[in-house]
Amino acid sequence: MKVDKFLVERFIGAYEHEVELNLAETCVNPFTLGEFLTLMGREKFFEELKETQLTYGFVDGSPELREGIAKLYAHMKPENILISGGAIGANFLVFYTLVEPGDTVISIFPAYQQLYSVAKSFGAKIKLLKLREENHWLPDVNELSELVDNETRLIVLINPHNPTGSLINDKLLKEICAVAEDANAYLLCDEAYRGLYINPNDYVSSAVDLSDRAIATGSFSKAFSLTGLRLGWIAASEEIIEECKLHRDYTTISNGLIDDALATLAVKNVDKIFKRNLEIIRTNHQILSKWIEDEPLIHWVPPRAGSIAFLRYNLKIPSETLCLSLIKEKRTLIVPGSCFGMEGYLRIGYGCKTETLKEGLSRFKDFLNSHR
Ligand SMILES: Cc1ncc(COP(=O)(O)O)c(C=O)c1O
Repeated sequence: MKVDKFLVERFIGAYEHEVELNLAETCVNPFTLGEFLTLMGREKFFEELKETQLTYGFVDGSPELREGIAKLYAHMKPENILISGGAIGANFLVFYTLVEPGDTVISIFPAYQQLYSVAKSFGAKIKLLKLREENHWLPDVNELSELVDNETRLIVLINPHNPTGSLINDKLLKEICAVAEDANAYLLCDEAYRGLYINPNDYVSSAVDLSDRAIATGSFSKAFSLTGLRLGWIAASEEIIEECKLHRDYTTISNGLIDDALATLAVKNVDKIFKRNLEIIRTNHQILSKWIEDEPLIHWVPPRAGSIAFLRYNLKIPSETLCLSLIKEKRTLIVPGSCFGMEGYLRIGYGCKTETLKEGLSRFKDFLNSHR
């Protein structure tokens, strides 16, 4: 089956181990195992696991893990949660379960490319709902309504958004849910960055708590800093979860038993993890804001949530050429907008260690100074 090259994955994969400073990372500084277990107060965790038999475990994910994840939502029960191999596995399973050739899938754009390329490879007709900088990278509901046709099966959002960090509030999200409901379509909302609000007063509901046509996907990689577990989940109505299970039987059987046990610890200690991570992103967001204020070649709509920002630059160099030169000259990695089909932009991650961000920005400044 043909599939488009996943540009951002190819680009980061090619260079992330070659550079000294990685500002392409989207996860909030991943834990070391030691740091994680200390924060959880469970240093003897692996000792305690010694008698655990390495079976398949619970095929849908352990009840404790699904219960812990369900608590992240207002109206979800463990039966509404299905564990997957990352949010990437969760998204894939939703497309595999719901999309047939000839269906229309409407996806926001720019976006994490998986969200339109997979449906395209399954034979769907893809319509792009373009987000614009002057609209704070938020979707326009009227434009969405115009894209809906009789074949529309799925509308796809990311909230908080990758690559811009925009945040759809409850009012707008409810309007989008209403469009999906009227069209008898489903709304897939990729919420991999949920909870990472820059402003402590911000809070946005999960789409799945607002409409029974909505499906949310989540991740342990970003806000939980447990990227190496490769775990995520789908939250949806029991009916959708049952359909997803039928498809998942052919790809997964179950996820890793040890990963499940570590993720269960995490969901029991959400507050501790978010305390650590909100401090990281809020500190780093301030540093990045200040840097941009002082840098006339770079403009942005400040991200409201998540760990990434989308920067517009004022230089006559294609974004990939700029990023390749930055790697070569300064051993620093950021992502070209071309990976998102958006020339003239760059995606930067600010969830890394503060020292990495500071040093990376300082090298980026030197680079810009030599190209002004
Ligand atoms: C919007 C979005 N969805 C899903 C993923 C995949 O994340 P995971 O590590 O949970 O598979 C990413 C990773 O960058 C992402 O940005």
